[in-house]
Formats: sequence, C-alpha cells, structure tokens
Amino acid sequence: MRRIAWVTDPHLDHALPEAIERFRKEIAAASPDALLVTGDIAESVRLLASLDELRSMVDGPFWFCLGNHDFYYDSIARVRDSVREWAAKREAVYLTDGERIDLGRDWGLIGHDGWADGRTPDFVRSLVFMHDARLIADLAGKDRQTRWDLMKELADESARSLGAGLESAFERFRSMLIATHVPPFRGACWYDGRISDDHWAPHFTNVALGERLAETARRFPSRDSTVLCGHTHGSGRFVAEPNLTVITGPAEYGRPFLTRLIDLGAANPLGES
Ligand SMILES: [Fe+2]
Ligand SMILES: [Fe+2]
Repeated sequence: MRRIAWVTDPHLDHALPEAIERFRKEIAAASPDALLVTGDIAESVRLLASLDELRSMVDGPFWFCLGNHDFYYDSIARVRDSVREWAAKREAVYLTDGERIDLGRDWGLIGHDGWADGRTPDFVRSLVFMHDARLIADLAGKDRQTRWDLMKELADESARSLGAGLESAFERFRSMLIATHVPPFRGACWYDGRISDDHWAPHFTNVALGERLAETARRFPSRDSTVLCGHTHGSGRFVAEPNLTVITGPAEYGRPFLTRLIDLGAANPLGES
C-alpha cells in the first residue's frame, strides 16, 4: 500500500452529476492504491448509492467512517447497520467497527465516526442550532440536556474505541493514521482560516477523543500518529503533542474533491510543509 486518496466531507448528495464526474476523474488521475473517506458522504437516503459511487472510484481497498450528515432522516443505529451490511458485500471497511488496517512500511490505520461532544467551551451557552437536532431521529424532539448527554455518549464511545485501538496498534506500528469525522481538539476546528468561536466550537470538537489520544501519545513518545478529520469544512493543521498532529480537511458543498494524496513511500508522506 503506497498511495492513499483521502477525501473528507464530499456531501455527494449536494453535487450535480458533472461535479461528481469531475471528482471521479480527479481521483482516477491520482491513481491511488486505496481510498479513505472521513464522513459526511451523503444524507441517509442517498448514502448507500453514494458509497457505491465512491467504491467504484478505486479498485483497491476502500475505508471510511461516517459523519453527522450521513445520519440525517434516520437513526444512528439503523444507518450504521445498513452501512455494515453494505460494507460486507462490497469489500469495504467501516472503520468504526474497530478494524485495524496494516498499511505496510510500519504504518497502520484505525478510525471511528466520532461526534462533537459540546465540552468546549460550553454547549449550553452556544447560540448555534445544528440541523442534527432536527434531522437525526435519536436527537429530534429531545431537550437540550438530553441531546448533549447523547453527544457526550457518542464521543466517549469513539474515545474508548480509538484510545484502546491506538494503544494496541503502537505495539506493532511506528506511525498511525487515525480517521474520524470531528476534530478532536479545539485548535483543529478550522473555519475560514481561523479557529471556530465559542458558539461553533461545542459542535465542532470531540474533546473526549482528544484527551484520550493525547494521553496515549504521551505514553508512547517513540510512536507518532496523525488524525485526519473534517466536519468544519475549514482547513488547517494542529500539533497537539510532539508526536500527535491533526489535519483538518477543507470541503465545499456541491464540489467534492480529493482532500489529499497520502504517499507512504515519500519522504514526507502527508505532504506537510
Ligand atoms: Fe460536512
Ligand atoms: Fe459533519
């Protein structure tokens, strides 16, 4: 495995066929060995068709996690089940189920949907109302505290899964890629070249995951990991620990594109300057 095409937030249900065709050609021109997608693929009614579209863009492995938009108009459990069934039939890997991918060259990959947990700075004081609260069955019609409790539960689940996954992966791999939808640190919540304000940050940060990854990174100073995420649609890089970096990928509704080509054979695999 050498060249991995990473795509975040393609929102294929917002794109016209011409835009999807341009995207397909861009991926083909990069000739990747594998495709990695970090969520917000399409709202639930179009999700499986969009996964089919992505699957057809590479001959090699296809790994992905889901984002909040992928659950719109359905429940989290039902969407996850349908995606699991789809992945089993299409030789794709839904990373949230805990699979660890050996990328060769001492690199491994793990991932999880993740969720914003409202813990920074304060969900209750935020004036932002995300469509999640209306369009995801688990959250719809619930009061603010109940919604926040569920957000925390979802984020905690991702922190447990990726924390344990990273710990055991570090016994075998020197460098890890961690794919998730929501940035795990407020410093990685880029939007328009700036860090999100106090109203957006609670909806854009998975604090539980960040704490767990940072703690694991400190315990394994000879290992390093890079988190690949999206969700904010802004682009930036954040160094959380000397051996833990977060890359937040940009996105634009209606214009899916290749976020980054990761070349594990290159001197600088993530193309960081
Ligand atoms: Fe998105
Ligand atoms: Fe998102």
